Amino acid sequence: MKKKHIAVFASGSGSNAENISRFFASHPLVEVSLILTNKPDAAVVQRAKNLGIPCRIFNREDFYNSGSVLDDLKRFEVDFIVLAGFLWLIPSNLLSAYPKRIINIHPALLPKYGGKGMYGARVHQSVVENKETESGITIHFVNEEYDAGDIIFQARCSVEAGDDADSLAQKVHALEYRHFPAVIESVVQKEL
Ligand code: GAR
Repeated sequence: MKKKHIAVFASGSGSNAENISRFFASHPLVEVSLILTNKPDAAVVQRAKNLGIPCRIFNREDFYNSGSVLDDLKRFEVDFIVLAGFLWLIPSNLLSAYPKRIINIHPALLPKYGGKGMYGARVHQSVVENKETESGITIHFVNEEYDAGDIIFQARCSVEAGDDADSLAQKVHALEYRHFPAVIESVVQKEL
């Protein structure tokens, strides 16, 4: 059977992009065939190089107007898109080409702490400031709004009195590394 191809979009460090790529490196049915970023100097670019996975860098014009990102996805025969720390809203040409096939991870328990401007450390800072006793991860399908598509999976961690944004980020990253690849695998396998 032909493998399903995943493209991972990331704007920053790319530690999830790397974790996902390693998880599928020896998978019989699924592979990460392309990594894409809007940040030429992001660490994810070097990670892609180290992993031997092609990496495309694009700008706003490419993404929202020219259709060149969709062209790249088609060239690499991409079946599913995974957003791993990617911060731009997904344009309608990608949403219609990949219905229920674009998956995002958010570092909090949506619907709390989501929406425009809520990403990375800002999320953890707000959770700590509001003295929440738990946080976690949400993996969801992507629609035309920030962090609003159907939820596929959530996992929780405790927020202790001594936690700050950094220590909470570590707990949340651990949940992401543990669960995100397997959740992607289960979504893709439903389509096999
Ligand atoms: C992850 O924690 C991810 O949940 C978050 O960005 C981080 C990327 O880390 N995404 C968002 O905040 C999206 N709103 P990484 O680059 O090390 O994978």
